[in-house]
Amino acid sequence: MESLFDRAQALEKLHGQGRLPKTLQGRVLACLFYEPSTRTRLSFEAAMQRLGGGIVSVSGAVSSSAAKGESLADTVRVVGSYVDAIVLRHPESGSAAAAAAVSPVPVINAGDGSHEHPTQALLDLWTIKKELGRLKNLHIVMVGDLLYGRTVHSLILLLALYPSCQLTLVSAPTLSLPDEYKNFLRKASTRFEETDRLAEALSSADLVYATRVQKERFRSEAEYEQYKDQYIINQQVMAKLKKQAILMHPLPRLSEIAPEVDADARFAAFRQAKNGLYLRMALLEKILA
Ligand code: NCD
Repeated sequence: MESLFDRAQALEKLHGQGRLPKTLQGRVLACLFYEPSTRTRLSFEAAMQRLGGGIVSVSGAVSSSAAKGESLADTVRVVGSYVDAIVLRHPESGSAAAAAAVSPVPVINAGDGSHEHPTQALLDLWTIKKELGRLKNLHIVMVGDLLYGRTVHSLILLLALYPSCQLTLVSAPTLSLPDEYKNFLRKASTRFEETDRLAEALSSADLVYATRVQKERFRSEAEYEQYKDQYIINQQVMAKLKKQAILMHPLPRLSEIAPEVDADARFAAFRQAKNGLYLRMALLEKILA
């Protein structure tokens, strides 16, 4: 991870100077997206193209053979014979691992259902390092949909590598972090507490990581409606945060962060999204160059 972060930093600088190298010339990446995406897909595609590589892309099952009933495994076998790596986003948990098991080329998980989203976690961790200058002794508050939020799950796995950090997990009891991730934190001896109250944790937080309630994972609209506005971060909430603390969000944000917060320099979500471009460049180089 450290070498990825160093390379991402270097690529960001080179981009600023208009001197990005064509390290991925002659390589082709396939983006298979069976769920909506803006940042993840477009940052992978832009990263590939800016480093001289090419992309082939399928978004939504409608325009691919999935619409004819082809299995993901068959699609991946075939696409893997055309390209050098596959980026996959799919609604089923475990789909990326299943695809990797049959693919002749590397598969990058760009989100498998409510399970994980590892490249987001890498760019999140790099953002924390850039913004706060360290990855130890941090008090991190995670708030929102911790049950279905795959970015939270993956970030927890990485944060567990830094056991001097302490977590406060804020959610409705019914949307709390799944046991497998809590067990992971316990094994790593990372301190964490669970609560449904956001206010108390704010004054000592170095970082608040807010997430969207994952509407698409709920059984009914009514159930979603019950949770969607439970935590709203507005100026009043920001006033309780330390001056040097930051607010992150993987985006898209809905009502959980009020637009009035955008003017606050501690709101880092757009810098975070931009970091995704360079982190994914570094990752693609590692896999393909
Ligand atoms: C996230 C996702 O798709 O899991 N978006 C992203 O990749 N930045 C978060 C979300 O959809 O809420």
